[in-house]
Amino acid sequence: MKLSLVLLTTSVLTYASPHLSSRQDGNSSGEASADQWGRCPPVWNTISRELTSLFRSGNQCNDDARAAIRAVFHDCFPDGGCDGSLAIPAELGRSPNTRLTGTVNKLKSVAEKYRVSVADMLMFAGSTAVLVCPGGPTVKTYVGRKDAKSPAPEGQLPTGDVTGDEALQKFQQRGFSAQDLAALVGAHSAARQRDQDPSQAGKSLDSSPGSWDVKFYAETIAKKAPFSLPSDLSLANQTQVGPIFKKFAKSQGQWNAAFAPALAKMQLLGSSASKLVDCTSALPRARYTRDVKAAPINDRYS
Ligand code: HEM
Repeated sequence: MKLSLVLLTTSVLTYASPHLSSRQDGNSSGEASADQWGRCPPVWNTISRELTSLFRSGNQCNDDARAAIRAVFHDCFPDGGCDGSLAIPAELGRSPNTRLTGTVNKLKSVAEKYRVSVADMLMFAGSTAVLVCPGGPTVKTYVGRKDAKSPAPEGQLPTGDVTGDEALQKFQQRGFSAQDLAALVGAHSAARQRDQDPSQAGKSLDSSPGSWDVKFYAETIAKKAPFSLPSDLSLANQTQVGPIFKKFAKSQGQWNAAFAPALAKMQLLGSSASKLVDCTSALPRARYTRDVKAAPINDRYS
């Protein structure tokens, strides 16, 4: 029997960032953020199909999917939260973001075509991309955000050299727990590096960058990944985060059950679910891998 769990803690529903945006003018696009009854506008079903074909190559998720997942973090984490500022050239041109340029500009065009906000598009695209990677969970996903008119402050994203202690401190300041951080950084299951070590550009952070699986945790802990970021190696040994890496390395179900509410929480930085509209139903359906189907029933996730 298919279990359909939308994984979201109630705290997420009321979560609002302490860093509410002061850079929004409230006049940007977003016409299609809710219908008159507050339901998810049907345009998001069309967008969902278009993004799914953008993110899928064969049976795997591709470079655009990986960039879309990373773009959620890069848009939401700096002050102001998820406000689409990542797509503003002055922010997109900064060194941590330049690799996202092609994908973010594609998503911006899709947002303009369907007259939705770029902020909503980036969040919906991240959730879609996670689902297109085989094994990815359903993240409760809202729309209705306004776009910022000015870039976020610079230098607030952790770099690939950050220590586990520093990373945890930065995430805790934004309202995330050690478990949230351990789960979120598992997005490196679908990741390649290019700038951390240009001499090894293109190497992936686990041996299966086209799917959503726990090999990232196991291979990082064992130092057997094609490439490991210094930050991930440090997190694997961090007092609070390290034991959670070990737990997730053994259980896709526990990882996904922690990842989905943590990403939903990230997508609500700068806004509040009570002011947004739930568009989770417009996301593509989760795809199941043999491993997941073979997992014990209480270890499955959707
Ligand atoms: C301590 C926190 C984090 C650090 C220090 C970090 C750092 C990095 C670095 C250095 C890269 C490789 C960039 C390159 O060389 O091209 C990368 C890639 C990536 N990151 Fe993170 N990251 C963190 C958290 C996250 C989170 C929370 C997410 C999403 C939820 C995420 C998603 C990704 C993805 C999907 C990629 C691959 C992008 C691609 O293949 O194009 N990361 N990250």
